[in-house]
Amino acid sequence: MTVQRKRTVVLISGRGSNMQAIVNAVRDQALPAQVCAVIANKPDAAGLEWADAHGIPTEVVAHRDYASRDAFDTALAAAIDVHEPDYILLAGFMRVLTPAFVERFNGKVINIHPSLLPAFPGLHTHQQALATGVQWHGCTVHFITPVLDHGPIVAQGAVPVMADDTPESLAQRLLQVEHRLYADVVRWLVERRISLDAIGRVHVRGIASRSFVLTPRGVESQQR
Ligand code: GRF
Repeated sequence: MTVQRKRTVVLISGRGSNMQAIVNAVRDQALPAQVCAVIANKPDAAGLEWADAHGIPTEVVAHRDYASRDAFDTALAAAIDVHEPDYILLAGFMRVLTPAFVERFNGKVINIHPSLLPAFPGLHTHQQALATGVQWHGCTVHFITPVLDHGPIVAQGAVPVMADDTPESLAQRLLQVEHRLYADVVRWLVERRISLDAIGRVHVRGIASRSFVLTPRGVESQQR
């Protein structure tokens, strides 16, 4: 029996390390998935070069070329549609998407946000964590809704905050968890384990834990 490979498009704005984690997971774990394209809203997004070097089609839809958010989102949606994706994976994509875009791809768009939502939506999450004095910081993979950094939570990962942390050191520590989290969620997606119930909560079939923590041994899923 041939397994239908799920088609994905990854959206980035910068470095693209989460995109790399997704691409590597698809390859290394031989997932039934294909990264059909990497699309950036900035021509100088460093991740484009990496994707290109790994044989993944890249494209730029530069938000600066469009007069309005609606016009940009319409162009972005058209660029995505060409690839007929099953899932659109936002990986460090730093644009707020319009309700029309969210509606059009309803239930297909996943984001990673560097905080334990619903704490610290928006920008500068590591500064916010340090300023607030939380002892644990983390990241969330979630379906998107028209509300920024909000939506059904698929998985979360946590790291301890150290007394001498700077936003940069905290971000660096968290990135290890982000990469593991996103790779696992993509696997669950393409293995068709993920569903949403009537009240918008996520269920993941056959997976005991959807929480991860950084330990001295590396990123581990929390056994319950
Ligand atoms: C990540 O921390 C991601 O969660 C946030 O921006 C950062 C992007 O990093 N939205 P990268 O481009 O994936 O390396």
